[in-house]
Amino acid sequence: MAAITQKSKALTRGTQHWDPDRYARNARFVSDLGAPVLDLLAPAAGERVLDLGCGDGALTEKLVQGGVRAVGVDASPDQVEAARRRGLDAHVMDATRLAFAAEFDAVFSNATLHWVKDADAAIAGVFRALKPGGRFVGEMGGKGNIVAIMAALKEALSRRGIDAARLDPWYFPDEAEYGGKLERAGFTVRAIALIPRMTPLPGALGAWVETFCESFLAAVADDERAALIADVEAAARPVLRDPNGGWRADYVRLRFSALKPAGREP
Ligand code: BEZ
Repeated sequence: MAAITQKSKALTRGTQHWDPDRYARNARFVSDLGAPVLDLLAPAAGERVLDLGCGDGALTEKLVQGGVRAVGVDASPDQVEAARRRGLDAHVMDATRLAFAAEFDAVFSNATLHWVKDADAAIAGVFRALKPGGRFVGEMGGKGNIVAIMAALKEALSRRGIDAARLDPWYFPDEAEYGGKLERAGFTVRAIALIPRMTPLPGALGAWVETFCESFLAAVADDERAALIADVEAAARPVLRDPNGGWRADYVRLRFSALKPAGREP
């Protein structure tokens, strides 16, 4: 691994910041729902695994509990700090500038890669980081992800004269697009699928918007944000409020497993 020191450049994703307490309150479900992609990874004790976008380390910790030698990286210094408080080996690093070469048996990523618009740079860094024969297993938002939330957000912003498309921090590809990128980087794609997953939220849709939509919220004045969020909830209510009064997010996951062929140099 290239030296990772306190001088590592902390690159944040646009205007999105991660407060570990708020994340734990409103977004714990993200790691709680990580079981299927962990199953796809099928990590073996003793393997060295990079958790790309480790957040506060909830899933990295599960890997370690299974005997894996896990390293976590995340662009958020606060989340990395939270991961370190769990005793994990975690580092601040941007997904498009991975500083590893041929040293991991697997790279694992849950709910991170849709924040990475330069997917080719991330995939190239993962390819470099893997030993020949290593695997890249991930799950991210895919084509069709949160369309109802986005429609509500677009409508609420457009009513205020703001074009949401200009502020969109996400990349939600389909199987052909992301699979093509993986193959062009040298991977053999073993499985890739879009999986619609209507996801119950732990609180109101507004809390989800506050947690994940900072790039949109930053476009309106502080004293206008509550009204914007109320408008988003009103527009999304017919589709995303369940009959028991809870809220859901219309997630679509893109889940994949790819192999760096043995004998390929990084
Ligand atoms: C997702 O996991 O799909 C997601 C989370 C936050 C914002 C956008 C998408």
